[in-house]
Formats: sequence, structure tokens, C-alpha cells
Amino acid sequence: MERSISIMKVFITRRIPQEGMKILSQAGVCKVSLWDSDEPVPRVELLKGVEGAHGLLCLLSDKIDTEVLDAAGPNLKVISTLSVGFDHMAMDEIKKRGVRVGYTPDVLTDATAELTVALLLATARRLPEGVVEVKNGGWSTWKPLWLCGYGLSGSTVGVIGLGRIGMAIARRLNPFGVKRLLYSGRTAKSYAAEVEGEYVPLDTLVSESDFVVVSCALTPETQGLCNKDFFSKMKNTAVFINTSRGAVVNQEDLYQALSSGQIACAGLDVTTPEPLPTDHPLLTLKNCVVLPHIGSATYSTRGIMAELSANNLLAGLQGTDMPSELKF
Ligand code: NDP
Ligand code: DGY
Repeated sequence: MERSISIMKVFITRRIPQEGMKILSQAGVCKVSLWDSDEPVPRVELLKGVEGAHGLLCLLSDKIDTEVLDAAGPNLKVISTLSVGFDHMAMDEIKKRGVRVGYTPDVLTDATAELTVALLLATARRLPEGVVEVKNGGWSTWKPLWLCGYGLSGSTVGVIGLGRIGMAIARRLNPFGVKRLLYSGRTAKSYAAEVEGEYVPLDTLVSESDFVVVSCALTPETQGLCNKDFFSKMKNTAVFINTSRGAVVNQEDLYQALSSGQIACAGLDVTTPEPLPTDHPLLTLKNCVVLPHIGSATYSTRGIMAELSANNLLAGLQGTDMPSELKF
């Protein structure tokens, strides 16, 4: 009797680091089709590409909703996202269809925490402004109060969402001489003892912190969390940093808080939308530092993320244990 060997179909929504592609091609269990570009796959191509797919490897910029799941159809066994955040995926629909999900926690924690510290220091000590002044001739002489900012020594830092990345940020900030480390979230964490973290209500964190760092997941509960009311409770000298997701912040309210002097300055690695239009009001402010979502952007981290997402995908296709399966 003739045995038919069926090769499973996989769609990848973008060029990913070679480390991941190599794993998929060497496994020999799937036929990969790839949106062969560094730019996002157009929606129509995504819907075409997933048709009949058993596996989908996607990015945080791909909206994986009912339409995409319907286009994929009943073959779909696994979605592997090259990210730890999963707010771009319709989890209820995915669950209903029994599709497994892989993601990339832990492997990007250090890189993202490092970037958060870099952004915090750059924002609080006004590094981008200083660089511009050197280049445009604004540096006339040493002046006692010119380009003064805020330092971490003796400060109170508040971390919203002391998860993997929040904790890694706290570990890195403490040696700068932070006096109090506050955190808020849904539950107190026993591991916070390592950084002498105090679990406090959000209002306490917001009003007592010199640096407010947002590192929580984007959920219906955290969407728009940092709004007018939130900024109005912050100190006028406080620094606001967000490396989680743009939608946690109401950007109009942030603009008002920054332009009115309600808060001192803000550093954002994430915005709504992404990219932020170049004529966006936030980009007119000297006291707002905006980065293009580069928290995990080191060569080695992105290579490891690609490996992990390829291995998650293979495990999902083969019905074995995933290295990092999202349980939901
Ligand atoms: P974790 O799941 O480890 O941490 C998420 C934290 O969010 C948890 O501590 C959780 O607290 C907290 N949280 C959830 N709901 C709330 C709430 N209502 N109020 C306050 N806190 C809440 O995830 P990671 O640390 O690995 O990643 C966090 C996020 O960082 C990702 O979801 C992603 O959006 C973002 N990210 C951004 C990157 C970038 O490039 N800028 C890179 C990587 C990640 P609790 O346990 O108490 O519920
Ligand atoms: C994530 O993984 O969620 C980041 O935003 C990108 O690494």
C-alpha cells in the first residue's frame, strides 16, 4: 500500500533572523512560505498566505483576529509569535478553535530591561537635547543650570507591572542608589524582596514616585491606564517611562501633562500607532524622548527569539511540548 507523507504548511509573515529559518528548514516537517520582506505583510497577503496553513509564525505588528483564523481554516494547529506580548492576537477566538500559541518570554528580558534603563537615563538627564545642542552650536559655555535633569540617587522608583521585565529593570536601577522601590500590579510578588520592593496601590505609586516605569502587559484593564487623572497625581518633577505597549498611555493626556509642566519628562519606546506619525504633537516636545520600539533589539536577542519561535512552531505542528507555550 502506498503511504502518503503529508508535509505541513507554514506561513511566516516577515523575514526573520536566519537562526529561526535554519531550524525550520532542517526539521523537514513543513513547507514554509514567507512574506519575504522587512516590511509588514499587507493584510490581503496575510489572508492569502495563511489559507490552509497548519502553522503561522507572526510578529507583534500582525493583527491575528477572527478574519485571519477563518482564512487559515481548520488545519491551523499553532501560532508562534516572535514576541512576549500577545495583545495583537484574539486569544478567545484562538482558544475556541483549540489552536496552541507559542511566544518568547525570558529570552528578551535582559535586552528590554537594559533599553528601559538607557531610555530612563537619556530622558531624565536630557541626553538627546544635549547631543542636538552640541551639533547646532547651542553649547556656548558651561552654565550652572543648563540642561539640568533628574538623577536616580536617593529617588523613589515606581514600577507598574513587576513581571519578568519589571523585575529586571528594578534589579538594574537599584545600584544607582534608589532609596525606595515601589511596585503595583494585580498581586504582591514574593520575589520583590530581592529588590526591597514595596507593593502599593497604584495611586500611591503614582504620587510618591520620582520615576514611574510602565512594564505591564497590555490588557483591557491596563488600556489607557496612564491618563489625565494618572498624570495629575504625579509630581511635577517626575519622569515617566513606558516600554510596555503604547495603548497603556492616553497620548493626548500625556501631551497635556508634558506641555503644561504637570510632569517633567517622558521616555517612550512604544506608541500608538507605530510608527508614530512624524507630525505627532509629542514629537514637538523637547521633554519627550521617543524610540521606535527597540526594547529587544540586540542581534543576539533577536536571533534567540527567532530560534525559540521556530522551535515553538515545530512543537505545535508535531504535537509535542513547546519550549515556551502560552497557557491561556
Ligand atoms: P510578564 O507577564 O512577566 O509581566 C507582566 C506584568 O504585567 C505582570 O507583572 C502583571 O502583574 C502586570 N499586569 C497585568 N495586569 C496588570 C494591571 N492591571 N495593573 C498592573 N500590572 C498588571 O511579562 P514581561 O515582563 O515578560 O513583559 C511585559 C510586557 O512588556 C509585554 O507584555 C510587552 O507588552 C512588553 N514588552 C515590550 C518590549 C519592547 O520592545 N518595548 C519588549 C518585550 C516586552 P500581575 O502578575 O500582578 O498581574
Ligand atoms: C515583545 O516581545 O512583546 C516586544 O514588544 C518586542 O520584542
